Formats: sequence, C-alpha cells, structure tokens
Amino acid sequence: MITYVGTANPGFAPYAMEELRRRIQGTKVSGLAPGETFLFTTGDFDPDPLLTDLRRNEPTFLRHMFPIDEETDVTESPEQSAEMLNQYAATLAERIKGKKVAIQVRKEQSSPFPYSSAEGRDVIAPIIQELGGEVVARDSDWIISIYASKKKLYMGCSLPRNNLSDWPGGAVRFRKDEGLISRAAFKLLEAERAFKLPLDQFSNALDLGAAPGGWTSVLLERGLKVTAVDPAEMDPALEYHPRLRHLRQNSADVSFAPGSFDLLVCDMSWDPRHTCRIVSELASSLSAGGSGIITLKLMHRKPFQSIQDITESYSRVFDIRQVKQLFHNREEVTMWVKRK
Ligand SMILES: C[S@@+](CC[C@H](N)C(=O)[O-])C[C@H]1O[C@@H](n2cnc3c(N)ncnc32)[C@H](O)[C@@H]1O
Repeated sequence: MITYVGTANPGFAPYAMEELRRRIQGTKVSGLAPGETFLFTTGDFDPDPLLTDLRRNEPTFLRHMFPIDEETDVTESPEQSAEMLNQYAATLAERIKGKKVAIQVRKEQSSPFPYSSAEGRDVIAPIIQELGGEVVARDSDWIISIYASKKKLYMGCSLPRNNLSDWPGGAVRFRKDEGLISRAAFKLLEAERAFKLPLDQFSNALDLGAAPGGWTSVLLERGLKVTAVDPAEMDPALEYHPRLRHLRQNSADVSFAPGSFDLLVCDMSWDPRHTCRIVSELASSLSAGGSGIITLKLMHRKPFQSIQDITESYSRVFDIRQVKQLFHNREEVTMWVKRK
C-alpha cells in the first residue's frame, strides 16, 4: 500500500478527500493543512492500475499528488533537516543517474521546517548532481517532492505524469505577460494544458461573457477568429483587432448559423443553470465534434450535486470530457465538452 500527499484548492480538500473515498475502496484519508493538503492511501487497489485510472479519469478536486517514500519527524534544526533531505536523496541514486530531476519543496505555514522552497532545493541539488542527475525546473524525468507539515517531513520521487501536475502542488504559474488583458486569461491557459487541448487547432471561436477580453486575447494570440459576446466593453487594446467581432449583447439574445464555430468558450460567471440554458441553445452554432470550455460556478457549496445536475443538463447536447477544478478557479470548476 502506498500513501500519497494530495493537494486541492484552498477550502476544497474535503471534496477531494470525498472523491477519493468514493473511488478507492479501503482508502484511508486524513487531513494535513486544513482545507488544502491531506494524506490518502491506495487502499485495496494495486498502486499501478489505480494510478493509471486516476490519470485517465482525473478527479475534479484533486489537483496534485505525490507518493511518500519516506517520512520522518519534522525539526526546526537546519542541520538535521539537511541531513534528512540528503539521506533521502542518496537513496535515489539508481533512479536519477543521467536523468533530469526537478526538486519541489513545500511547507505548511505552521511547520517548523527551517527552509523555504528555494533553500530546500539548494540543499538537495548538490547531492542530485553528485549522483549524476541534472537538476532542472521543468520538463524533468523525475520529480522529488518534499512536503513539511506541522509534524512530519514527507519525501517522495515520482514520474511527473503520476503527480497529475508537474507544478509544485499543482500550482501552475504563468508569466504575467502571458496573462494579457485580465487574470481570467490564466484560466483558459491552464484549461488548455489540463485538457491537453491546444487552442491553435481551432479556427473560429465564440466567446460568451468575453469582457474585458482575457480569454479573447488568448484565442486571438493563437490565431483564431473570435466572436465575443458581452454587453460590457472589451479592453481598448482589442477594439480594432481584425479577427475580432464584438457583439454588445446578452448571450441569450444572439443566434448564429449552424456550425459557425469550432470552439465555444464561456466564462459568464453566472448561475450555472442559466448559463447551461444559454450555451445549450447555442450548441448548434458549434460544428459536430467542436469543443466547449465552460466555467461552472459552484453555488451554495454543494459541489457534487451541482456538478452532477449541471453535467446531466449539458449532456443532452454535449459529451462531457472532463470537469476539473483548476488552480486558477476559485469557487468554480472548468468543464471541457464536445458537441455531439
Ligand atoms: C468573469 S467575466 C469574464 C472574463 C473574461 N473571460 C476575460 O477573460 O476577460 C464575466 C463576464 O460575463 C458577462 N456576462 C454575464 N452574463 C452575460 C450574458 N448573459 N451574456 C453575455 N455576457 C454576460 C459579464 O458582463 C462579464 O463581462
């Protein structure tokens, strides 16, 4: 049996834990940092098929996971902490020789662990290099994950794909200049990665609830033509873009010829049932097999019920491909659908 450190968005760990309880018979789940990190075990399952299943059919609220190879009591002593990290790194000699290795160190706020993420990395990096590994930040063969809780230091080494995200704790960071018009743009950039759905494969997008234009600007950057629908103003930087048409209307009042678009995105941040009605009405304007990326607001804090009800409604016209709470989602999740 393997124990993992799991991470969810702040406040959503109870839902991630509940998802795992429903999925993994016999799992034992316990909290670490309230609302955010927790432990779970592989329960009655063989770890490998379970990992494959979690990768193929990703839980909505589990953002990141890593397997614990070793755990020790956490200490505030820099020397003892360095010793523990070095001892652990030394056990990885065979795996990391000639490989690219990322080192990700995180700690809970209340942990006495004396190192920051960067300092922890600097402690381990020379050992990895001595053992013939190349320390890298991204695109690694292995990730060494260190998590310091209030009481324990958890250490593990895994393939990036088995962590669900290759970012520390799944906290995807984009350079600010990639964000363009608004922070909302990060949601679309993250969805593109999470759903492995390169946006430049599409040519003609409908953006519902587009203002001030963060998502639109990402789509324009990727070379798409965009029809943006929003009564609000778009950012002046987009105003005269030759591939943008802005309809200053309510999405409920627009209609398009069948198959006009191959991508529909919607970030109206409105009651999800109203949004679903509007998007479903416009589904025929999407070509068969076209994709939709839609944010779903989680109203009244009953996420499982809300997601089930809403996906049921959407599934009349769409195949639901994935529903995921992204790092850049707050009280919402992002859904990828395909037109039936
Ligand atoms: C969260 S913002 C969208 C941010 C945008 N995705 C971006 O990247 O800049 C929500 C937008 O939805 C718009 N909106 C809400 N209800 C709408 C509706 N029924 N039709 C069109 N736009 C709507 C609002 O005017 C608001 O500009």
